[in-house]
Amino acid sequence: MSLTPDQVKLIKATVPVLKEHGTAITAHFYAVLLKENPSLNGIFNQTNQKTGHQAGALAGSLYAYASHIDDLGVLSPAVEKICHKHASMYVRPEHYDVVGTYLLRAMGDVLGEALTPEILEAWGQAYWQLANIMIKQEDSLYKSAGPWTSWRDFRISKKIPESSQTTSFYLSPVDGKPLPSYHPGQYISVSTSVPSLHHDQNRQYSLSAAPSPDHYRISVKRESSVRTGDTTHPAYISNILHADKKEGDILQVSHPFGKFYADSKEQNNGALVLISAGVGITPMVSILDTFVQEKQERRISFMHATRSSDVQAFGSYIQDTTSTHPHITSVIFNKHPAADVKQDTDYNFACRMDLDKVDKNKDLCLDDEEAVYYICGPGGFMRDMGDRLKSFGVEEQRIKLEIFGTGNMS
Ligand SMILES: Cc1cc2nc3c(=O)[nH]c(=O)nc-3n(C[C@H](O)[C@H](O)[C@H](O)COP(=O)(O)OP(=O)(O)OC[C@H]3O[C@@H](n4cnc5c(N)ncnc54)[C@H](O)[C@@H]3O)c2cc1C
Ligand code: HEM
Ligand code: HEM
Repeated sequence: MSLTPDQVKLIKATVPVLKEHGTAITAHFYAVLLKENPSLNGIFNQTNQKTGHQAGALAGSLYAYASHIDDLGVLSPAVEKICHKHASMYVRPEHYDVVGTYLLRAMGDVLGEALTPEILEAWGQAYWQLANIMIKQEDSLYKSAGPWTSWRDFRISKKIPESSQTTSFYLSPVDGKPLPSYHPGQYISVSTSVPSLHHDQNRQYSLSAAPSPDHYRISVKRESSVRTGDTTHPAYISNILHADKKEGDILQVSHPFGKFYADSKEQNNGALVLISAGVGITPMVSILDTFVQEKQERRISFMHATRSSDVQAFGSYIQDTTSTHPHITSVIFNKHPAADVKQDTDYNFACRMDLDKVDKNKDLCLDDEEAVYYICGPGGFMRDMGDRLKSFGVEEQRIKLEIFGTGNMS
């Protein structure tokens, strides 16, 4: 059942009140939801909950939804992106019942009498209107994944260091059955037990190589400690993968999902301009590797920024690939190059990425009106690069962003 015009008005009028009490509602919502439904602990990111990102993501999307409630078309790309992430974590229709119930209960508990039955009813309708759209989209994603309908056991077949911080994991399915292909740029979720929490946690990792029927490769940066309130803990999953997981160990893996990808079968000859910083290089390496393996002649410009030589992953792979393929070029920004690396061979500029320093046509492909721009890295980096490209006249729809976190680019 859809919302009545009066309910739409009520929703819009109550957005500021809910916004004001967002943090209190969050705390209450998660505390009660997870206490009474401990099995959900394995789905929700424990670190983000404590730092408020995940709650912000949920609230932010409810808000965006509420402000476009009479014009739902506006939201669809954003909703689609959330659904890919949900699907990679195997969020199910029955979870929506639980989350909806606890969300409305938390709103009622925190807002007390200010939340009249009419307002609560309107928000319940709004929640379900959005939830039903998402459940339907997720259902079609699950169908597109064929028989792979839940977490699948993979064995770590190889563990290869790529830099002082980043390690590649080659993951082979324990059932030995061939793996489905994916679009380069997509990610998988990886789930494993976190002993200190006494339950599982999952995280997303971009696939970092061309598709192969017998293994997937991900490349994981070891994150530093996370401070939440008075306590500090090592970032959970990246540290467990680096420190505890050995070749032969088992992880649970989702089917590949995600909307940030380059389609090598697409009828578009525009250049691919791949712009990354730090571990944001992983989806770009997958795109590069796929187009090279498929012998695609599409022009590729690979631009990457690294903080220093020791943390630079895939340096020699990029060098070898560009030197053997005339249609592929690269520009490396290395803020602190080591004494033994050479300018113009190992890196090009000893600074942060600065698009004013590169060739506007050879590197930025501004002479190609069909060029597509892929950006992945820290939030500030993506914002700066996106803004600069737009100032050069690149339209928003040709710029694609991948955020290695939740919600906004914070
Ligand atoms: C689509 C996608 C693709 C990704 N691809 C890759 C990849 O290819 N390689 C890779 O290494 N990672 C990738 N990530 C990131 C990865 O999913 C994990 O987030 C990362 O490994 C950290 O997880 P963790 O469990 O080790 O850290 P967690 O325990 O989750 O904690 C670390 C995170 O907590 C947050 N945090 C820490 N301190 C604070 C604070 N004081 N305040 C607020 N927030 C704080 C930060 O977001 C930090 O990243 C990707 C993420 C997404 C969404
Ligand atoms: C139901 C209607 C709600 C609306 C309309 C709403 C609206 C908002 C808005 C607009 C913001 C700022 C978001 C941004 O800057 O992107 C916000 C922040 C926040 N909201 Fe809500 N909110 C709602 C409910 C909730 C709920 C249910 C939770 C908890 C699950 C919550 C927790 C938070 C938190 C923690 C923040 C700060 C996020 C951060 O710092 O990352 N809110 N809310
Ligand atoms: C209408 C209801 C819902 C809305 C609007 C919503 C919205 C969102 C948004 C905006 C994100 C962030 C996506 C991103 O990072 O790109 C997110 C992530 C997530 N959602 Fe939902 N969601 C809903 C229901 C659910 C349900 C039912 C579950 C399952 C119990 C769930 C579990 C999660 C988890 C685990 C994450 C990842 C959080 C993280 O990485 O910190 N959500 N959701």
